[in-house]
Amino acid sequence: MRNTIRTLEKHKQEGRPITCLTAYDASFARLLDASDIDVILVGDSLGMVVQGHETTLPVTIEHMVYHLEAVFRGTQRVMLMADLPFLGDRDVLTALDQGGALMRAGAQMVKVECNGGHTELVRRLAGSGIPVCAHLGLTPQSVHRLGGYRVQGREGVAAERMQAEARALEAAGAQCLLLESVPEVLATQITRSARVPVIGIGASPDCDGQVLVLQDVIGLTPKPPRFARDFMAGAGSLSGAVAAFAEAVRSRAFPESGVHTFG
Ligand code: KIV
Repeated sequence: MRNTIRTLEKHKQEGRPITCLTAYDASFARLLDASDIDVILVGDSLGMVVQGHETTLPVTIEHMVYHLEAVFRGTQRVMLMADLPFLGDRDVLTALDQGGALMRAGAQMVKVECNGGHTELVRRLAGSGIPVCAHLGLTPQSVHRLGGYRVQGREGVAAERMQAEARALEAAGAQCLLLESVPEVLATQITRSARVPVIGIGASPDCDGQVLVLQDVIGLTPKPPRFARDFMAGAGSLSGAVAAFAEAVRSRAFPESGVHTFG
């Protein structure tokens, strides 16, 4: 039986942190499925991790479907979330088409990078039966507009805007939020006021769950982001590193305040 959105909601209610890692192929997906990771994210980070690009912008819906199908074939237990790629949100019909393609390929939830103006799009996706995770904060598809991979929501106005956006997206039907590179205090506030599960990356240990890119966790990334941790050191095996990540998240030992989070 696969984990579902109900699993994540139950974890939030019970205060059991949700564990999520990325995977892009059947082999790593099998490894995560055999561990007790709750969710696999087939992220458009595959553009950087698998394809070797500097950003996620070159990733297309065809790439996403190809990798998602491979991950789907490698799994039976984990919940699968997949990214709507760059410009998949250019209009509602495109988002419905591409979201639908991801659902047909095995996604149980589609993650949409939201940076203002996505409320109606999320409402239409959710209304059409496409469960949405709204990604707020640092949205890597906007890296050039943001001027780099920078922490978001540091100034008072930006923090208030993000809180309001989180509320609006939840009201529009988003069933999960993901906060990336957001000051810890702000991430904690958003998590406490949200009724839906909130997953963090470079956010807060108080988020309802944590996600990392698998290659950062197993020490394969040459210059990992500050919010990541290499769990391979001392683990001895890939499955040991994944288990160590899950254990650190569940005991709230990871992320460490001020080390993997931002002020
Ligand atoms: O694409 C991705 O892997 C992501 C995570 C880093 C959250 O969006």
